[in-house]
Amino acid sequence: MEHVSKEHLDEMVTTLSESWKGSLITAGLNAGIFSSMNYNTPVSIDFLAEKLNYDRNKLDKWFYYCAGVGLVNQIDGGYILSPKCHVFMPDSPYKDIVGFTRLNDYFMRSAVEAQHNFKKGSSLDKLTEGKITRNYQPSVSDNLSAELMEYFKQYNMGGDDTLLDVGCGIGAFARTILKNMPGLKITGLDPNLFAIEWGRKENREKGLGERLKMVVGDAVDDIGEFADKSFDWVIAVNLFHFFPVEHRLKLMKNMVRIASKGVFFTETILEKSKLALSADPLMSLLWNDYTGFFREHDAENLNNQLAQAYPDAKIVKHLILQNSTYLMAITK
Ligand SMILES: C[S@@+](CC[C@H](N)C(=O)[O-])C[C@H]1O[C@@H](n2cnc3c(N)ncnc32)[C@H](O)[C@@H]1O
Repeated sequence: MEHVSKEHLDEMVTTLSESWKGSLITAGLNAGIFSSMNYNTPVSIDFLAEKLNYDRNKLDKWFYYCAGVGLVNQIDGGYILSPKCHVFMPDSPYKDIVGFTRLNDYFMRSAVEAQHNFKKGSSLDKLTEGKITRNYQPSVSDNLSAELMEYFKQYNMGGDDTLLDVGCGIGAFARTILKNMPGLKITGLDPNLFAIEWGRKENREKGLGERLKMVVGDAVDDIGEFADKSFDWVIAVNLFHFFPVEHRLKLMKNMVRIASKGVFFTETILEKSKLALSADPLMSLLWNDYTGFFREHDAENLNNQLAQAYPDAKIVKHLILQNSTYLMAITK
């Protein structure tokens, strides 16, 4: 065996301490410690122990660590959140980091059960079942899609345009679009009956009526039924890594066929960021229906085929989500 260098050792220690730091951040989020604090008024450990009914000594250890790494600051006998926390707290301007931080919950669970999860068909969950990940969309993916609205506006989506949202999940993102563009008429399509029912209930409660219709359907089997140019816009957000690889180009082409104004979809590219690279195997341990992020040359290949098929369309790639994902904008 080759001699282990100091460099290898240092790298491993850094890896471990960073992943333990991630575990402690996740612990603080799940235990509601961060959300019981603020940036100005210090709270004491005694106050939190009483309020949350937690062991004072455990809190003391957590705070000692977090103060040491600058996540909290100690003042006037208590603690406040440091500006560093602002990156991952719900009020962060970096919504993608908020989503990625919440994803850590699920990744930790899937890693703990890896011996089981590596087996065929035995990942922790299925998106279409949502046993473990039933809050995935509000806690993770809604944060990842938050910045897309600005792009949609840039491309003049609005007025009484119609929009088809392929892989709409519980429809939370469609509702965000409607908040920003109340005149739109949206149809959401997803094979997950549970997600569609959840979404329909929310739509009813919010009085969205005809403005947001959600239908059960599969973009492999059912997308052909939508007529040419039957919607102004067709979008698919964070869908392709759950979509069969061999059907991806066909779906992209169908989206272009169905849209009269334009198409938006996201492509997460493995090689674009360290986050995407490590998330890819973790996602496959988490979900049986995860099919994988794009490898860079595969995405380029698909995008070239798309450009050849539609020489008159304008195709622009916007790099989003900590440089790991492209928002593909195809306008006619
Ligand atoms: C990560 S979620 C994204 C949900 C939503 N678009 C968002 O950005 O929040 C992926 C969604 O794709 C849906 N999906 C998976 N396979 C699909 C298929 N064959 N046709 C349509 N939707 C599919 C899943 O049910 C799930 O709701």
